[in-house]
Amino acid sequence: KTNQQWGGRFNEPTDAFVQRFTASIQFDQRLYRHDIQGSIAHATMLETAGVLTTEERDAIIAGLNEVQADIESGKQEWSIPLEDVHMNVESALTGKIGITGKKLHTGRSRNDQVATDIRLWLRDEIDAISRELTRLQQGMIGLAENEADTIMPGFTHLQTAQPVTFGHHLLAWNEMLERDFGRLQDCRKRLNQSPLGAAALAGTTYPIDRELTASLLGFEQPTRNSLDSVSDRDFAIEFCAFASLLLTHMSRMSEELILWTSAQFNFIDLPDRFCTGSSIMPQKKNPDVPELVRGKTGRVTGHLISLLTLMKSQPLAYNKDNQEDKEPLFDTVDTVKDCLRAFADMIPAIEAKKDSMLEAAKRGFSTATDLADYLVRQGVAFRDAHEIVGKSVAYGIQQGKDLSEMSLEELQQFSDTIAADVFEVLTLEGSVAARDHIGGTAPNQVRAAAKTALQRVAER
Ligand code: ARG
Repeated sequence: KTNQQWGGRFNEPTDAFVQRFTASIQFDQRLYRHDIQGSIAHATMLETAGVLTTEERDAIIAGLNEVQADIESGKQEWSIPLEDVHMNVESALTGKIGITGKKLHTGRSRNDQVATDIRLWLRDEIDAISRELTRLQQGMIGLAENEADTIMPGFTHLQTAQPVTFGHHLLAWNEMLERDFGRLQDCRKRLNQSPLGAAALAGTTYPIDRELTASLLGFEQPTRNSLDSVSDRDFAIEFCAFASLLLTHMSRMSEELILWTSAQFNFIDLPDRFCTGSSIMPQKKNPDVPELVRGKTGRVTGHLISLLTLMKSQPLAYNKDNQEDKEPLFDTVDTVKDCLRAFADMIPAIEAKKDSMLEAAKRGFSTATDLADYLVRQGVAFRDAHEIVGKSVAYGIQQGKDLSEMSLEELQQFSDTIAADVFEVLTLEGSVAARDHIGGTAPNQVRAAAKTALQRVAER
């Protein structure tokens, strides 16, 4: 005989190693608050269904609140033989209120209980992450507004392409985050249904009211199928998919920040408080924060793959495999929150080195397309214009001159349609200002886009 809560049919105690191997209390204790929240809703419902008396319900709720206080003041001792947070809490409750505590699990199973707990816990975390993501976006858009006139080279293939404004670049980042925010809200919507009442897998014979527990817990409605309810972990996978894509975006941003802080680019400075030094090279200031965010992308994407692999061959309904959902999910939430916090603090503190950005934009013949467009406006066919400008660039490389630094006579060697007004389009300011349409890099467009982006975020 064993002293386990389910020990009735067993003839010998569980092997000590197996107890430890099968236990989840080491990591699922962090679900305690949501476990108790779910139990209070369940007990409340059992009373209205006539399964518990009013006195029993009140004793259970008071006892659960005491257990929660014990946990929060560090008095609760978690027990491995009690396997998980659900049985630890139930046992602590029974320790406090006696035999009535043993009635709490009526019409319920740990299978619907754990599914409910994770959904409640993740819903709170999603809301916290939404707030932090919003704070990051606000800081990013604010910086974009300030840098609407700051000219830098835009790249394709990491080769100088055309001038853009730094504000425009930052708003491109914000678009990635805006989509991530939308994906997170989609995930929350599908998550927000109550599995409670599915019991082990088939439902229960008690006259339970699933609508009531769903609404007590702030869920939109009960889930529709009891088998699916205890086996579904889509919400965890969807969350990790959101997180992987968010981190992929933040990793791309990190990569650019790291490049830009290098002496070779020299586009930005990160404040000292976000950087670290070298133990051997006294001159070093390393961009550790973006490097770590880039690195943590690997672990978050790994967790997504873990969960997909965890689920891929499971028959219906609940299997113990599902206990393995927690650590990847918990670590994903922790990692995303840390990365968002680091970025939300750091991004608004970026200092643009405007002169250096401008110099770089000049160096790469970034207004070559503007010259071709100018020739087209003079009646030259685009392919011929392309050829003419290509020759001008080759001359510039040879002479060490940007297009805007050549004299009119020098430019006219390549086409006699070029007139003095060409210099208006060859300047970097003229080039960005000319891209004046929705989604373009013209400073007034960037300012308008930043304004509507801030409004969108404020209306959430
Ligand atoms: N600790 C378990 C988990 O995390 C709770 C559910 C256990 N259910 C069961 N039938 N063994 O999934």
